Amino acid sequence: MGLSARKFARHRTCLRIETMKKKRILFVDDDAEMRELVAEFFHSEGYAISAAEHGKEALNQLNQLDFDTVVTDLRMQEMDGLALLHEIRSRDPLLPVILITAFGSIETAVEAIKEGATNFVPKPFKMQTLKLIVDKAIEQKWMMEENRFLKEELGERYSFHNIIGKSKPMQQVYQMIRQVAGSQANVLIEGESGTGKELVAKALHFNSPRSPRPFVAINCSALPETLLESELFGYVKGAFTDAKTTKQGLFEVADGGTLLLDEISSMPLGLQAKILRTLQDQEIRPLGGTSSRKVDVRIISATNKDLEGAIEERTFREDLYYRLNVISIVLPPLRRRREDIPLLAQHFLNHYSRLNNKKISGFDSAAMSYLVNAPWKGNVRELENTIERAVVLSNSEIITSAEVIPMARKSKTGKFDFGDAFVPLKEVEKMYIEKVLQASGGSIEKAARLLGVSSRTLYRRKESEARQNAEE
Ligand SMILES: Nc1ncnc2c1ncn2[C@@H]1O[C@H](COP(=O)(O)OP(=O)(O)OP(=O)(O)O)[C@@H](O)[C@H]1O
Ligand SMILES: [Mg+2]
Repeated sequence: MGLSARKFARHRTCLRIETMKKKRILFVDDDAEMRELVAEFFHSEGYAISAAEHGKEALNQLNQLDFDTVVTDLRMQEMDGLALLHEIRSRDPLLPVILITAFGSIETAVEAIKEGATNFVPKPFKMQTLKLIVDKAIEQKWMMEENRFLKEELGERYSFHNIIGKSKPMQQVYQMIRQVAGSQANVLIEGESGTGKELVAKALHFNSPRSPRPFVAINCSALPETLLESELFGYVKGAFTDAKTTKQGLFEVADGGTLLLDEISSMPLGLQAKILRTLQDQEIRPLGGTSSRKVDVRIISATNKDLEGAIEERTFREDLYYRLNVISIVLPPLRRRREDIPLLAQHFLNHYSRLNNKKISGFDSAAMSYLVNAPWKGNVRELENTIERAVVLSNSEIITSAEVIPMARKSKTGKFDFGDAFVPLKEVEKMYIEKVLQASGGSIEKAARLLGVSSRTLYRRKESEARQNAEE
């Protein structure tokens, strides 16, 4: 049936990032007047719609073109709706088929659902009702295709030791990890907060011959200088008043393995000198100790600050910088690799659904479009938190925009702040109406006056929103 589901899903993922796409309907009915009415309505609503007189003609069209859904009458000569449904199902399990049934033909409807019909609409129907059903079916189909595609990608090539990403910069990072993991060289990982520096450090360790030995991490900005020093180098009993016992330093704990010095730019200058010496001599002397001990540790350092700037400002030693930065890995911020967002979002969704015992399979298109376009100043960590929160809040099988957007809904000043994100206009409108309604103490009349619309318009909007929510 033309483009394969997989290829099409790939196509969709790209489209979601760029623009929304026309929904394509094939309408099948032997009643010419009906065909014309339905085609005219959907055409005016911005859909691409083709019509067919009976099942055979529908199959012909399906062979030549791609559709997002088929809406078919039941009773037709040549090939009826059920036969058409049967034929479609044997070729494509995902293409939604909506049946139009005559009033009272409940048995046929039951049979149709058993055969795999997506939904049915009893006659006579309102165009708006059909539209809602069509939209829902297409949304579901797109989501399932995208899900399947994302799951395949997650399982295949686009992850490396828990690091997810298919973008070119991430592929280069994987390549780099593979190349340097086995060497003894020290590595400096640079990247904004939340870009995955610690994850990369672990991947380096666990892909190296050092993996059976410890991976130890210390955050250099979290401790005052003296504590940091004793943590790193250890002390002997009696070295200072509180040294009641001997304590092994992290250099020793990590012997044979890897030591991650996180936020290395916060390392005080005095300690920088001591670390430099340790790296040169490959030995440490605990505080208060009289002899040195050999250690074999690979140092990975991480920073979200510009170390070269720190060198210029004389807060970081140049000689230490060159010792640490034998190999450099730079992690790009998430906004520079937006093509990774759907994959990451699905990965976190799988993870947190499992953790929370929920069955959530994907995101609707408004939610995904928000995720793909949001600014993500906190990078992958912020995305992860957003998805975790959405999973906890969600009561349905699909994450909607309401569950992912709220964090950005209001800034501290109470004003709307979407950062650089592109939020669907419908959502912005919905939020704005909510805000005005709140400010009017829930009075629709007052809110309508403030918004410059009639209260009838506002009532109708709220009603249709409620109906849509109920149908979902
Ligand atoms: N590419 C990725 N794939 C999957 N998860 C990721 C990725 N990058 C980051 N994460 C997740 O995001 C969170 C933050 O990652 P990590 O702690 O490695 O970031 P960081 O760069 O060290 O941040 P910080 O500078 O704030 O310490 C973690 O939960 C991590 O598992
Ligand atoms: Mg970190």
